[in-house]
Amino acid sequence: MDLPRLFHRIVLLALSILIVSAALVPASAQSGARQKAPWMNAALSPDERAALVLKEMTIDEKVSMLHGTGLKGLGPVSPLAVGSNGGAGYVVGIPRLGIPAIQMSDAAYGVRQSGENGRYSTALPADLAAAASWDLDAAYEYGALIGRELRAQGYNMSLGGGVNLTREPRDGRTFEYLGEDPILAGRMVGSLIRGTQAQHVIGDIKHYAVNDQESGRNAVNANIDKRSMRESDLLAFEIGVREGNPAAVMCAYNRVNGDYACENKYLLTDVLKKDWNFKGFVVSDWEATHSTVKASAAGLDQEEPGEIFFGGAMKDAVQSGRVPIAEVDDHVRRILRSMFACGVIDDPPLKSVVDVVGGFEVARNIAEHSIVLLRNEQAQLPLDASRIHSIAVIGPHSDVGMISGAGSAQVDPPGGNAIMPPGKGQTKWGKPVWFPTSPLKAIRAKAPGAKVQFDPGTDHSSAAALAKTADVAIVFAYQWEIEGADLDNLSLPEHQDELIAAVAAANPHTIVVLETGSPVTMPWASQVNGILEAWYAGTQGAEAVANVIFGEVNPSAKLPITFPRSEADLPHRTVVHPPRESTTNGEPDDWKKIAAGLPAFQTTYDEQLKVGYKWYDAEKKDVLFPFGYGLSYSTYSYSNLRVITGGTPGGKVRLNFTVTNTSNRTGVEIAEVYAALPAVAAEPPKRLVGWSKIKLNPAESKEVAVEVDPQYLSIFDVDRNAWQLVPGDYMFLVGGSSQSLPLKESVSLK
Ligand code: BGC
Repeated sequence: MDLPRLFHRIVLLALSILIVSAALVPASAQSGARQKAPWMNAALSPDERAALVLKEMTIDEKVSMLHGTGLKGLGPVSPLAVGSNGGAGYVVGIPRLGIPAIQMSDAAYGVRQSGENGRYSTALPADLAAAASWDLDAAYEYGALIGRELRAQGYNMSLGGGVNLTREPRDGRTFEYLGEDPILAGRMVGSLIRGTQAQHVIGDIKHYAVNDQESGRNAVNANIDKRSMRESDLLAFEIGVREGNPAAVMCAYNRVNGDYACENKYLLTDVLKKDWNFKGFVVSDWEATHSTVKASAAGLDQEEPGEIFFGGAMKDAVQSGRVPIAEVDDHVRRILRSMFACGVIDDPPLKSVVDVVGGFEVARNIAEHSIVLLRNEQAQLPLDASRIHSIAVIGPHSDVGMISGAGSAQVDPPGGNAIMPPGKGQTKWGKPVWFPTSPLKAIRAKAPGAKVQFDPGTDHSSAAALAKTADVAIVFAYQWEIEGADLDNLSLPEHQDELIAAVAAANPHTIVVLETGSPVTMPWASQVNGILEAWYAGTQGAEAVANVIFGEVNPSAKLPITFPRSEADLPHRTVVHPPRESTTNGEPDDWKKIAAGLPAFQTTYDEQLKVGYKWYDAEKKDVLFPFGYGLSYSTYSYSNLRVITGGTPGGKVRLNFTVTNTSNRTGVEIAEVYAALPAVAAEPPKRLVGWSKIKLNPAESKEVAVEVDPQYLSIFDVDRNAWQLVPGDYMFLVGGSSQSLPLKESVSLK
């Protein structure tokens, strides 16, 4: 080792000993110091408190807050990382000022633990599943559970909150997002973040923005016009930021209109910080920072996971005048004020035991609100356990588990992957993880008097032979997704389409339960009696599915995403894949190439405003199951629409209408409100503008009121950089799905 490097090592080691020993100062002494400091006065605002701390900070302390300490496998790891709790990100604290470290963990559908500390977390249904509940309270509970479990594991920052709109359903992270509508997704993520931050944990919303494919995500340049971006992809973030007030926004890997998202001034400063008045900090996705001066000026506040650009290089840039100290102060102020605002300084997390039973309850409850009944011919469902003698449960691993979504969202299952041999419990990146929630056992428990037999479906003729002997055949089919790769297509893998067709041919009472993170095509749809979309249903998925199958739960969820008839109907023939030189192919020095910036390749969202159902509507393409669709064991009727435009607070449009339960079963209906804008607005045929979830007893009618924010009726005027309500006639449509809208009324708006 040469002398300067040796010297550098010694300095780093000394520094880490200093910081670690400072961190080990007895809590009483630290809290004494904290109590005396003027910024510990909780009566002051987060901004005042941050300003007081900032005044005391040295340049080294400031820079230390602008980056993480590295992560194994992703660039160099600093000796300071020794203080990390084992999560994806760790930013050192400043003990002399009473500022704690930031301990970040991935937490998309539960707290990720990749085996480091082996602690338990609850796996909720995937985010997309939660979106199918259209339930803001459930989203809050979802976020709150994550916040509680983060704290219990010693974390004070969540890396969840994915809200990229699904422009491309083959995107390998579709399960981590909230569907294809900006208002539904934005409102749901806002509620989720509020739930998390109420637990005194820093919340985050990601991946900002237009990170709509995983293929070549570090290189791809997403081309999209500003109006489309503001009215779709960015609107989801805008609503999420407004309603959830997240302390952090994570910028994405990809380029947007030429610039990397993490050094994109339009996205980070012009839109996020100025137009939306975002007060928190922008954290880069892991290795998504590509510069010091440009990124800092564009509005990036913190580099993760290491310090390639925002560590020593930032200090040098300040000292040589390339980055003004005022810019660094703004970054630090944003981080500090967020820490005060979220309560992580006044109320730091204390490790404790996770409430496992409580977590089961929340996970099952959300799954029951998320499972979408797509088809129910001859009222096949619910099954009456007292009248069924035999059931065939068929499909890969449906004897032991249900599949989950993978990547940084992956939550470790209790006791390990259900399909691994005992003793090999740990999850591995790239290997599907099945949660130990057994459909076979759950069905047996519901139908103790029936003969319930299992076939894995590997041999289609043996599966069909079993199906033939049973009163009912239930096939569990899956499609697996992982971050970093897109789906090749929307077909079920492993010949499951053929399996289902073979079973359906053998048994006219076939029910298919889908465990998918994206829509799938269903060439067999008309041959089966029942279809349930269970998504990635989480740790209590099988129990929730069984409760729906046997009618203890009356399904109420609606699709947050369109299921097309065929892939040929999607806006793009395939996901654009990178040419070879734009990829890094997993070589050990990847991080250097990624940091330096890989050659761009292009994807162009020329469908523009026509995202999801707006595309199929505008292009007049028939779909398999439309956005907003979902059956129930009850039936509902709609009547008596009135649209009130004057005298409402905030210029909102109010709709009143009646929903009636026309069945003899108590149920919950999600009533949806769409608007068709005046023709001069040049918009897709209609957009979702509101909804209401209503519980109705048999034959009960309820008057429903939905208020529509004027922004939801507006278009984005790029020249004026403002939302504009186009004067003219607006048609309001109300009903139970985007394609079943029995009530209509047109009003003129100025
Ligand atoms: C993902 C982020 C995640 C981060 C930390 C990245 O690869 O894109 O969503 O939060 O890793 O694990």
